[in-house]
Amino acid sequence: MRPIIIANWKMNLGYRDSLKLAEDLVRAIPEAELYKKDVVVCPSASSLLIVAEMFKKHHIVMGAQDVFWREQGAFTGCESPKFLWEAGCRLAIIGHSERRQNLQETDAMVNQKIKAALVAGLAPILCVGETYEERAAGKTDNVIMGQTIKALSGIQLLANEQLVVAYEPVWVIGSGRPIEPEEAEHASRIIYQTLLDLFPLTIVQNNIRIVYGGSIDGSTVSDFTGLEYFGGFLVGGASLHAEEFASIIKQTE
Ligand code: PGA
Repeated sequence: MRPIIIANWKMNLGYRDSLKLAEDLVRAIPEAELYKKDVVVCPSASSLLIVAEMFKKHHIVMGAQDVFWREQGAFTGCESPKFLWEAGCRLAIIGHSERRQNLQETDAMVNQKIKAALVAGLAPILCVGETYEERAAGKTDNVIMGQTIKALSGIQLLANEQLVVAYEPVWVIGSGRPIEPEEAEHASRIIYQTLLDLFPLTIVQNNIRIVYGGSIDGSTVSDFTGLEYFGGFLVGGASLHAEEFASIIKQTE
């Protein structure tokens, strides 16, 4: 499958800075890269429309940082997957650890969000990963297996639907240092095996990509590009700099 490189701008940029970075990205990423790789940018909700306008004539795809599980109604402050699609989003990050921690998002909520995203035509980017305490207690494998199973319970992917599972060890996000590539590879194997228990082999091979996220930048990405089950990256801090993000894209095979 084509590699996928996802920028998660988090809550870092307002409207003007988002527009500026979107412009810089269009200049920094050669068109030829976009024919071979899927490049996704997830801005804040308040900047989606302006960024969508900027990417209209380019092959950079836009994603949302979250979705709600209902399509429409009295849900103040929530973002409808259907409306996010209308705003130009084609993917949505779901279950990011910052939402699990700050907003007490549960696996059950993540599951509902994934279902709703798929109905709206958005490809979910499911985030899973262990905290430092869970890792120290030797629970990493169980945590990522459990999160993956609960998030995807009752979901059947159709041949035209895509899913991304991002392995993001919570303790390295924003730390400036990724984990050892061998540890990441072990986690990706666990996720791959879990996916094989949930979906037919052809779906796992053709419709699902596993990516790594957690302090990836232009100087560390090459340590992770050859790993067996990874097909790309979810990038936070380093995606806020156009040249740095372009360098990550260039090095991703
Ligand atoms: P980071 O963030 O690259 O800044 O560690 C990754 C993420 O949280 O998706």
